[in-house]
Order: sequence, then C-alpha cells, then structure tokens
Amino acid sequence: MLRKKPHAVLGLPTGSTPIPMYKELVRLHIKEGLDFSHAIFLNLDEYIGLPKTHSQSYYYYMQQYLFTQVNAKAKNIYIPSGIAKDIEKECAKYEDKIRQVGGIDLQVVGIGTNGHIGFCEPGVSLSIATHKATLAQRTRKDNARFFKGDVSQVPTHAISMGLGTVRKAKKIILMANGQKKSQAIYKMLIEPITTHMPASALRLHNNVTILLDKAAAQKLKKAVAPNIKTNRIHINALTALTVTL
Ligand code: F6R
Repeated sequence: MLRKKPHAVLGLPTGSTPIPMYKELVRLHIKEGLDFSHAIFLNLDEYIGLPKTHSQSYYYYMQQYLFTQVNAKAKNIYIPSGIAKDIEKECAKYEDKIRQVGGIDLQVVGIGTNGHIGFCEPGVSLSIATHKATLAQRTRKDNARFFKGDVSQVPTHAISMGLGTVRKAKKIILMANGQKKSQAIYKMLIEPITTHMPASALRLHNNVTILLDKAAAQKLKKAVAPNIKTNRIHINALTALTVTL
C-alpha cells in the first residue's frame, strides 16, 4: 500500500497480534527503505485514564513498535488522548480528523476473544462512530496480562473508533492468531451478523481480508469454510488461511 500510495492513511491496531507486522514494517524500512514520511497514521483506540507516558498506553505502544523505528512524521500521527478533559469532544474531534485526511485507506484490526473490534464490545451498534467504550469484563481479564496479571489495573473505558468508522475504511485487514481466537473467528464468519459479535459487522464491507494462523482457523476449516459467502478462500505461505470477503 505504502509503495503504491506514499500518502496513504493507515488505521492501526495495538495488542499482541500485530507485533510481528510492526517488526516486518521496521525491517522493510531499514533494509528496503520503505518510506513512512508521507503516510498518515490513525490509531484504532486508546485507554481512558492512561497518559502517553504509561507503558501500557497505546500511544506508548505505537512509539515503541513503530513510530520511533521508522521515519514517521509526528505531525502525521493521530491517537486519541486518553486523558482529554472532555472525552465526548475528543471522540468527535477524532471523527473530524478522519474526515479531514480523506478517510482511511487501509484499516488493520485484531479481534478480541469475545469478537470485539477496537473496543467495540458485544452489544454496541454496528454503525457506531468513535465513542467512549466500556470494556467488557472478558476483555479486561484478557488484557490483564499486559498489567502484570492484575485485572484491577486494566482501565474500564477507552476511546475507540466505532464499527461505523472502521467500516468506512476503503480496505480492512483483520488478523488473528492462536486457538483462543478460533471461536470468535468461526462466529463472525458463519453465524448471523449481530451486535453480539461485533466483528460480524465486517461482513457488511466489500473489501476485507482476514489473515489467520492454523490455530485461529482451526474451527473454521473443520466446519463450514466452503459455505462462507466469499470471493476467495485460499491457503498461502504466510498464513494458514486467508479469507477475502
Ligand atoms: C487493539 C484493539 C483490540 C485488539 C484485540 C486483540 O488496538 O483494538 O481490539 O486488537 O483485543 O488483542 P491481541 O492482539 O492482544 O489478542
């Protein structure tokens, strides 16, 4: 994407899943001169209450894994502030920013074990914009591993792009690995589209690629992969299964 369109607007996730992607982007920058100086970066979400300097803030994560390692320009980096005084205003400002930069060309997302995208947790509207999200208890438990296993340290709220925001991106890539994601992957693709499974909203988009390792694809492959209404399902060298919706 960046080679074809140096000014691309990239929507980026955090978490453990994309770490190898960031390592590869850094490698491409160092070894092959991939240029990030014109790209615009918008993060999917940020915890409410954590300052930029907190080691678990998503601002800190992005600096650590990408921005300080490549030639990204600070003026092109947008991450909602988790310590903004007026969170509603911060959410509205973020939506405005996305519009001002011409929309997101490529949005990369992970998926929670409960099917969340960003922090759009089960029950949230499939069209919601950037909003103050309440983390599901399951998400807080899953993320306790980043907070020395102490769930009480995991923030209760976040600013998150909404499913409506994500669905406006021109292209979406969802990445998932590990057996713990296999149930959510199965449900998002096979069961009805529902607010109970936020990731199922991606089926309403016409340019989504889902990259899965073997463990995350396990349930899908065994069950009904041929029944998924997709243009292409193929195995490639990098991933166990690529589903193009
Ligand atoms: C992160 C985010 C979350 C994660 C999801 C999976 O910015 O928005 O939705 O993508 O919780 O997290 P990992 O990759 O840590 O399993």
